[in-house]
Parts: sequence; structure tokens; C-alpha cells
Amino acid sequence: MYKIIRKEELAPSVKLFEVEAPLIARKARPGQFVILRIAEEGERIPLTIADFDREKGSIVLIFQEVGATTRQLGQLNAGDGIQDLVGPLGRPTHIERFGTVVCIGGGIGIAPVYPIARGMKEAGNTVISIIGARTEGLLIYEREMAAVSDELLVATDDGSRGLKGFVTDALRQVVDRGTKIDLVVAIGPVIMMKNVAEATRPLGIHTVVSLNPIMVDGTGMCGGCRVAVGNEIKFACVDGPEFDAHLVDFKGLIARQRMYLPQEKIALEHEEHRGGACRCQGT
Ligand code: FES
Repeated sequence: MYKIIRKEELAPSVKLFEVEAPLIARKARPGQFVILRIAEEGERIPLTIADFDREKGSIVLIFQEVGATTRQLGQLNAGDGIQDLVGPLGRPTHIERFGTVVCIGGGIGIAPVYPIARGMKEAGNTVISIIGARTEGLLIYEREMAAVSDELLVATDDGSRGLKGFVTDALRQVVDRGTKIDLVVAIGPVIMMKNVAEATRPLGIHTVVSLNPIMVDGTGMCGGCRVAVGNEIKFACVDGPEFDAHLVDFKGLIARQRMYLPQEKIALEHEEHRGGACRCQGT
């Protein structure tokens, strides 16, 4: 069991857990993830490591309650335990002194981009961060991102905070004012990463995205996380999760993400029924 030592609600249905995991904390690097199960027969969920404290022996996981398992996970509290935690998995982010790095996080993707922005800053880069969400109440980690960035731009779809628009609009502002960008790192919904890739492609700016496809084992054996990158099939769990955004087949990725939606809907309905939130008349 891996003990939850801190729990915070960052936004509606977005939870933060700090979990005691000294061996993972010792080895974790920005860009890596863990796979957890809350029960022996439970679903395996990949979550990016949002932060780690080697001295304290803990890691931070941030997740959104979108399906049955993440809802169950969100019901755990500080003091409770997580059944299994495997990691750190995946390749760490390639961090070096590139020059000016733009780190983009959309929605829950702000959490995994945070340790990357911090690592880029520590490596001597000028870090311009752009974070975005649908509305102000869903913005997470603004203070943390500001602390590791030379400049922070905020965008919300409804204009309730920062620029009214998308992260790509904020990126356009940075480009239009003449800032020379050496690298863009973008993490968020697949459609956001695709749009960032399309924005930087004609500008020739190297862009890296972190993919979070369906995963099962997380060790390269099941093929569940396969994604086409530059006409090659890659496994996100062992070859990634970060890839050159200009080579990713986003269309194929989006289709695969939707493959299990009917099953997810059934699982969610079952979970609501168990939790008493369902309005059906069954027992
Ligand atoms: S999750 Fe099974 S191969 Fe990547």
C-alpha cells in the first residue's frame, strides 16, 4: 500500500494526492509517469508525476475525475492507501539549455508540464509558460507555474482570466512580438496538442508533446498505447510519452482514444448507481 499523505481539491473534480513512494521519488524525472490500481482487480490508470520530493520520499499526482475509476480514486483521503503504484515509467523529458522554451499546459495538462518548466528553468533556459483552461475556476497550478517561469501567460476560453481564447492564441502573441522560440513543449487535450503542432509547424519550431493514450501494462508488452509517429508505430509507454509533435498521427490517436467510450459510459453509470447518484428505479 502507498499512503496518501496529502489531498487537495485544485478545481471541481481535479484532485491532488501527495503519496508516500520513496523508491519512485528517488528515481523520478520530469516527463515520467506511474501506473496505479486502487484495488487488486481494478483498472490500471497511468498518471504523470506532477512533482517529486526525493528527501521526503513522496510524489504528487494530479488527476481529473472523468471515469469510474478516477471517481473512486477521488473518494480516497489522506491516510488511505493506494494498492499498487508502478514507476517511474516512460522516458524522461530531454532537458538541456535550448535557449527560450515555451511550456504550454492545457487543463489538467498543466500539472505534468510544471516539472518540465521547472527543469528547463534550472537548466538555464528562458521559460515562457502558457496555461489555459475553459474558465478561471478550472485553472490549476498558476502560482507554481509563475514561480518557475520568466513569463506566464494565461488564457481562458470564456475570458474569465487572462486572454480570452486558447493557448494557441497566447502562443501567437509571443511569436508576433518577435520572440525567438527554440522549443515548445505542450501537454493537454489531444486536440490542443494537435493545434499547437499545426501552429508551430510552418514556423519550423521544434515542438514536443506528451501523449497519454490508453495504457494497460505500461511496459511495452500489450500494445495498447501504440501510436503512429513519422510512419512508425511507437509505444507511448516505453518509446514516449513525449514525441515530436510534427510527426504524430493525431487523427489516429483521437480515433483510438474514442475506442472504449461505450464501455467507459457503462462503467460510469454503474459507478453512479453504486454511489446513489443515479436516478433509475433499480436496486
Ligand atoms: S501500455 Fe502496453 S505497450 Fe504500452
